[in-house]
Amino acid sequence: MSVLGVPGTMPKCELTRVYVWELPVRLAHWGVALSLFVLAATGLYIAHPIAILPASFRDTYSMGWVRTIHLYAATVFGISVVARIAWMFMGNRYSHWDKFIPMRRKRWAGLGPTLRFYLFALRKPPGFVGHNPLAGLAYTAIFVLYILQMLSGFALYSAMANIHSPFHHLGFLASLFGGLQTAKWSHHVVMWLLLGFVGHHVYSSVLMSTVEANGTVESMFSGYKFVPPEDLVYSGYLFKERREMHALSQQAGNSGSR
Ligand code: HEM
Ligand code: HEM
Repeated sequence: MSVLGVPGTMPKCELTRVYVWELPVRLAHWGVALSLFVLAATGLYIAHPIAILPASFRDTYSMGWVRTIHLYAATVFGISVVARIAWMFMGNRYSHWDKFIPMRRKRWAGLGPTLRFYLFALRKPPGFVGHNPLAGLAYTAIFVLYILQMLSGFALYSAMANIHSPFHHLGFLASLFGGLQTAKWSHHVVMWLLLGFVGHHVYSSVLMSTVEANGTVESMFSGYKFVPPEDLVYSGYLFKERREMHALSQQAGNSGSR
């Protein structure tokens, strides 16, 4: 048992530095995060404009500017989302699409214990190096919302785009939503769903970063996490029985531990 504050009595804990998030993942993450705040702020103004402006503001083209900023931010958002989806097929194993959609038995097996940890029924954090299976699944839902938001956004834009603009031909997207009015409704509701996610996401990122003490939040800036070496082999499956752990380590050895 260690005694806090007494030198030499703390348990020894060696950590390995792992390059988890490559530059495209980090750029896409912060591109989405920053543009989303701008889109939400400008979107809320578009939805609830200040109807009565003081005389000095009257001819300032304020709604025009807000919509222009919304569309520039939407461009950053769209490029970041598409780039990140492309990187799911080109990047390292931590950014791969199968870390989002749990296609392997190993990932499915990790869902329950991770949920139990979040519900305080399991003492130890799951110890996955990249996204844990539950986080990966939640991010999948978020990417679906991103795509839905882009589709409804383009549907709205098609109605106002210049007749010579290629975006003018995206009018068919509105019918996917049952018309422009419902596309606008969906665009508004999805914004609140995304903002709800962000509140939870920042809280849980900071929480996991503190509990796992592996530099989770910092990793979205630097790319590196600091993990116990055995996590590289078992990647979150330490809660399983020793027999299974042995089988998994052999499997990992054979298949390059993807
Ligand atoms: C609008 C704001 C944000 C959105 C929409 C967002 C969304 C996401 C998404 C979709 C992922 C998965 C990343 C991927 O594999 O590409 C992710 C990961 C991550 N985000 Fe955010 N994020 C936001 C803000 C933040 C902020 C402010 C922080 C810092 C506190 C943060 C910290 C992280 C971390 C540490 C991860 C990796 C977590 C892990 O290891 O599983 N995010 N975020
Ligand atoms: C590719 C992405 C996007 C495109 C092309 C896009 C485009 C548009 C367009 C054309 C409008 C209508 C402007 C008007 O009526 O004058 C609009 C409104 C709006 N946008 Fe976006 N947008 C995108 C992403 C987002 C995101 C990510 C959010 C929030 C997280 C958002 C929030 C809003 C809101 C709240 C409105 C007002 C809706 C209402 O009137 O109820 N947009 N957007």
